[in-house]
Amino acid sequence: MEVIVKENYEEVSKTAARIVARVLNAKPNAVLGLATGSTPLGLYRELVRMHEEEGLDFSQVTTFNLDEYVGLPKDHPQSYHYFMHQNLFQHINIPAHGIYMPSGTTDNYEAFCKWYEQRIVESGGIDVQVLGIGSDGHIAFNEPSSSLGSRTRIKTLARQTIQDNARFFESIDQVPVYAITMGVGTIMETRKVLLLANGEAKARAIADAIEGPVTSMCPASALQLHRDAIVVIDRKSAGQLKMLEYYEWIQAKMPGAP
Ligand code: PGA
Repeated sequence: MEVIVKENYEEVSKTAARIVARVLNAKPNAVLGLATGSTPLGLYRELVRMHEEEGLDFSQVTTFNLDEYVGLPKDHPQSYHYFMHQNLFQHINIPAHGIYMPSGTTDNYEAFCKWYEQRIVESGGIDVQVLGIGSDGHIAFNEPSSSLGSRTRIKTLARQTIQDNARFFESIDQVPVYAITMGVGTIMETRKVLLLANGEAKARAIADAIEGPVTSMCPASALQLHRDAIVVIDRKSAGQLKMLEYYEWIQAKMPGAP
């Protein structure tokens, strides 16, 4: 894992955008894995700015989103379809046929999940996967105790996640209990992972993910076994890392590496 600690959210977002842009510049038809939530908003804002001001091109890009709430139609303001269109897709030149999102309204989830996995493979696999982390250590909607080999499937959300996400709904009762989500195994097959976090509320989960044992009790800890995982976090979410000084030393010495 490469751990990059930045002073604040804006720097986290800019660093993440530079990493995504580097992938796109090297491979204009790259396949991006995208996430929702508050964390990647700054990254998306920066990608939109790069598109508008620097001509960052998405015309050949394919995207796959991690997850979606079950039962929310695409135009529901809290659906992840809506979120992605509002915050990214409508502002860049990605063609509609390049966008894949898990469906929250299919009448056959089992078949849909298989199809989604197959589309990822047929598209050549995900080149870079953006991830946030839950305060309980989840990635996508893979809650603690999720199999580390899991594939796209329906998950029952943990109470903690429902509480964390209630802020986006009028009341906690309106937060869906089920979600369709890529599995930890699906995420582990992506070529590069970009895990982002900010704020003190994520400090415990970040420490468990990076320095704790690899365990399904912290699904993000599976990323310790990923061949190319980059973690970009702010100083507050890095607050419980035991090896913080070493990670900063590595970053400081990197320009001189042979
Ligand atoms: P957040 O969610 O970015 O809104 O904190 C992250 C997550 O639950 O994966």
